[in-house]
Amino acid sequence: MSNRFRPDHYTLKARKMGYPARSVFKLEEIQKKWSLIKRGKPVLDVGAAPGSWTLFALRILGKGGHVTAVDLKPLTIKAPSGANLHFRQGDVFTSESAVFLAEGGPYGCVLSDAAPATSGNRLVDTRKSYNLVMRVLDLAEEHLAPGGNLVVKIFQGGDENEIRDRIKALFQEVKTFKPKAVRSESMEIYMIGKGFTGLNRENQL
Ligand SMILES: C[S@@+](CC[C@H](N)C(=O)[O-])C[C@H]1O[C@@H](n2cnc3c(N)ncnc32)[C@H](O)[C@@H]1O
Repeated sequence: MSNRFRPDHYTLKARKMGYPARSVFKLEEIQKKWSLIKRGKPVLDVGAAPGSWTLFALRILGKGGHVTAVDLKPLTIKAPSGANLHFRQGDVFTSESAVFLAEGGPYGCVLSDAAPATSGNRLVDTRKSYNLVMRVLDLAEEHLAPGGNLVVKIFQGGDENEIRDRIKALFQEVKTFKPKAVRSESMEIYMIGKGFTGLNRENQL
């Protein structure tokens, strides 16, 4: 078995804590640094399966918390008792999903760990990731509450500066971050937007 597929420290720890995927530790590190998920504010999780980020958000929000999650694939988690999980299986960019997302919003935090199916060709894959992220930013613009936060995964090596500029125009603060749990050979990074203002920031002051 190659190292890539051997369960590592993070995978084993995730299982112990009831999470289906090691990716939870990426969000945990982001949350520790920036406290993007806030109690009492609903969360949207884009590209949520198998469900580690969703479960993490539900646990932070506690009883009465709301997470809306969408993925092409099913979730393998169960919401903790008293927490509200609204899940739709399907493409997040369809008009049916738009109605579903609107029902759960506006959101205090939009999470996107969504990734395109990869081809192995870095140029192709970074372009696919760029297109996906730009569409996630459209969703964030539409569904975030003022002051809301964003985490979005990007494959590095393409036009991530353009993505950063767009996030900068929409939020008070933007950060680029590679969590420790990202495998060293991976091209993924995360961008964080804090304090959603929307494009018409001057009009809101
Ligand atoms: C790395 S996984 C997410 C892992 C998740 N954060 C967790 O911790 O369990 C990326 C997911 O993005 C989903 N995805 C990609 N494009 C999508 C789309 N257009 N609509 C819904 N889900 C999508 C994939 O199906 C995949 O399950």
